[in-house]
Amino acid sequence: KPPFVIAVDGPAASGKGTVATRLGEAYGLPVLDTGLLYRAVGVLAQRAGLDLDDEAAAAKIAAGLETGLLDDPGFRTRGAGEAASRVAVHPQVRAALLKLQRDFAAHPSVIDGRDIGTVIAPQAPAKLYVTATPEVRAERRWKQLQGQGEAVSYEDVLADIRKRDERDGGRESAPMRPAQDAVLLDTSEMTIEQVTDAARRIVEAAR
Ligand code: C5P
Repeated sequence: KPPFVIAVDGPAASGKGTVATRLGEAYGLPVLDTGLLYRAVGVLAQRAGLDLDDEAAAAKIAAGLETGLLDDPGFRTRGAGEAASRVAVHPQVRAALLKLQRDFAAHPSVIDGRDIGTVIAPQAPAKLYVTATPEVRAERRWKQLQGQGEAVSYEDVLADIRKRDERDGGRESAPMRPAQDAVLLDTSEMTIEQVTDAARRIVEAAR
């Protein structure tokens, strides 16, 4: 019997991070935010003055990534999300981050990302694919960035989101997509409480 892993995938600012955190609390499970791994690789590559299109250089950073150093506010900015999606297209970067994620998925846990249900933990008994319209996601992300003191217009955030959807969904290597056995959860018209309740019902049905 595979470990009780809850895979939470979906596009940027869909609410999947919140869903993962809430499910982790509800079931007492550790949570891995895999987006943070790609954000760290992108930002550390930029800080080292590397070209984000340089696959081998980015893969080296990924291979040396220390999970103890992920707690950096610089990984949560708008630029970090963009850098993350640029390094995330490289197969060598994805391969370098695979073991860490698979090791985590070997134990009961909640893991959120883009390819958890499809590549990292295809055997996960519970899979959610969290979505919302680009406009709703842009609004949420815009408010979040404002709260962090990042001055940016809603239109620019919406453009970022559309570009990221296209890059994450269109890449060759582990593109963002729902696993065949994932349950879709559209959060566009839901409050956080409603999303949490719906996510818990989906997980209960899979238990
Ligand atoms: O989830 P978050 O927005 O933090 O992810 C940042 C970027 O990292 C995504 O846009 C995507 O390109 C990449 N990513 C990925 N696979 C994952 C998680 C994130 O390619 N499992």
